[in-house]
Amino acid sequence: MSLAGKNAIVTGGASGIGRGICLRLARDGANVAILDVNQAGAAGVASEVAGLGRKSLACQADVTSRVQVEAAIAQVRQTLGPVHILVNDAGIGKFVLLAEMSEEAWDEMIAIHLKGTFNCTKAVVPDMVNAKWGRIINIASTAGLGGAAGLVHYSAAKAGIIGFSKGLAQELGPMGITVNAIAPGLIETPILQQNGVITSRMQKFIEQTAARAAVRRNGAPEDIAAACAYLASEEASFFTGQVMSPNGGMYT
Ligand SMILES: NC(=O)c1ccc[n+]([C@@H]2O[C@H](COP(=O)([O-])OP(=O)(O)OC[C@H]3O[C@@H](n4cnc5c(N)ncnc54)[C@H](O)[C@@H]3O)[C@@H](O)[C@H]2O)c1
Repeated sequence: MSLAGKNAIVTGGASGIGRGICLRLARDGANVAILDVNQAGAAGVASEVAGLGRKSLACQADVTSRVQVEAAIAQVRQTLGPVHILVNDAGIGKFVLLAEMSEEAWDEMIAIHLKGTFNCTKAVVPDMVNAKWGRIINIASTAGLGGAAGLVHYSAAKAGIIGFSKGLAQELGPMGITVNAIAPGLIETPILQQNGVITSRMQKFIEQTAARAAVRRNGAPEDIAAACAYLASEEASFFTGQVMSPNGGMYT
């Protein structure tokens, strides 16, 4: 119960890693607001959080819209109170080679990951400065560390999130606020599906990645949620500007 009395916002909390983080933070004692474009999914996770005995809220918002984000965060403040923990998890992962990549695909990827992280962070920092305590955890990727073919826009966005986290850690450290990135390896979630199904090519990639990992498996949302719970905790107050990479030893 290390997070008892804390209020957390998890963007992208309706599915996959974000859902896993919501449930773990709730188990550790936090109240949790889910900010997601998927209203039905967010409402489902909010019910699960409530079932764990915590306060919860589902807010429908697109992280690329500053107006929607600010309205959602105002709703969170009204319902739960000031925000202590922000997890920027909302994301997409569409594979396309650079040669075939449209300007729209590039802009969408950069907007959701980078502008979304900017919008949500900017909206909650005043609460954290006021409390002289805060935890900002940004979900990057091993693609942002080592790069991934078919995902140059995603790799660029995730490397940007790492730079954002390191810069902001320097700005906010003196105010008791830590900022870190988590760079997961392959985690089996709906992001790997195309139109609701796993293609045979993707299935092969998933199996090959598991075989390359030292632990001979891909990750689960709970693996990332555990790292997030540590970074959100009081014990992690000396841990800032870092990239934690739960990846099962998948480096090559
Ligand atoms: N699954 C992996 O292998 C993996 C690996 C490394 C990093 N990540 C990152 O983890 C995060 C979560 O991914 P996941 O695998 O759980 O995928 P997911 O598809 O299960 O969840 C992503 C969530 O983000 C939400 N979302 C998408 N665009 C949004 C927007 N504009 N505004 C608000 N919400 C939006 C979706 O509705 C969804 O609920 C992403 O940032 C992803 O890049 C995933």
